[in-house]
Amino acid sequence: MSERPLPRHVAIIMDGNGRWAKQHKLQVALGHRKGVEALRAIIRESSDIGIEALSLYAFSTENWRRSPGEVAALMGLLLEYFTSEIDELDEKNVCIRILGDKDGMPDKQRAALINAEERTKNNTGLNLNIAINYGGRAELARAARILAEKAVKGEIRPEEITESALADALYTRGLPDVDLLIRTSGEMRLSNFLLYQCAYAEFEFPAALWPDFDLAAYHEALEAFRHRDRRFGGRNS
Ligand code: FPP
Repeated sequence: MSERPLPRHVAIIMDGNGRWAKQHKLQVALGHRKGVEALRAIIRESSDIGIEALSLYAFSTENWRRSPGEVAALMGLLLEYFTSEIDELDEKNVCIRILGDKDGMPDKQRAALINAEERTKNNTGLNLNIAINYGGRAELARAARILAEKAVKGEIRPEEITESALADALYTRGLPDVDLLIRTSGEMRLSNFLLYQCAYAEFEFPAALWPDFDLAAYHEALEAFRHRDRRFGGRNS
């Protein structure tokens, strides 16, 4: 093993559930269900190995455009997950945070998301961020609005609108920037995920479809990260 540290903050775009379902001649909803199993294992492992923050892209603001059947299946899985997994996550000292617009979610799902955040807010283990009804540009626009409202009230002067003030107005307030972004299924796009937080992220694009992304594949990505030469715009030698 190399000496470099693990990433503090890992972000994952869980891509390929649809293709996995197609490969197995199953309905897309079953691909997403299988995707939840993969997600469970990755969360547990991240907590066990001491990752500080894990951000998962579960549902984008653009995903509402999918068929009503697929949207309903995803909403059902979200509700199921946030109802059945909370005890275990709470026991593991996981702190859940939802990135995205909860107000735009159906009532039951919104209540479950708020409950998960409330129940785990004082936990000090893994920071588990789940992006739901999330878009990176919308997050930046929201941060601008928060700062503008403060400016109008006289609580902040324009010259105090610094990078750190902006970071504090994001959903990820208080968390480190993303060190490693993983997108499964071989696609190489950011798709509006954590645009600000990924400024200096390293990228890994494993070929595995998300339901096939197992712990061995996760460790491969983490190990690849540990061999990267990170310069943050500077020079190392
Ligand atoms: C991308 O695969 C995946 C999604 C749009 C949803 C990810 C959601 C889950 C893994 C389950 C729900 C999450 C929680 C937290 C319970 P795709 O359907 O775009 O795959 P494709 O590109 O092969 O069609």
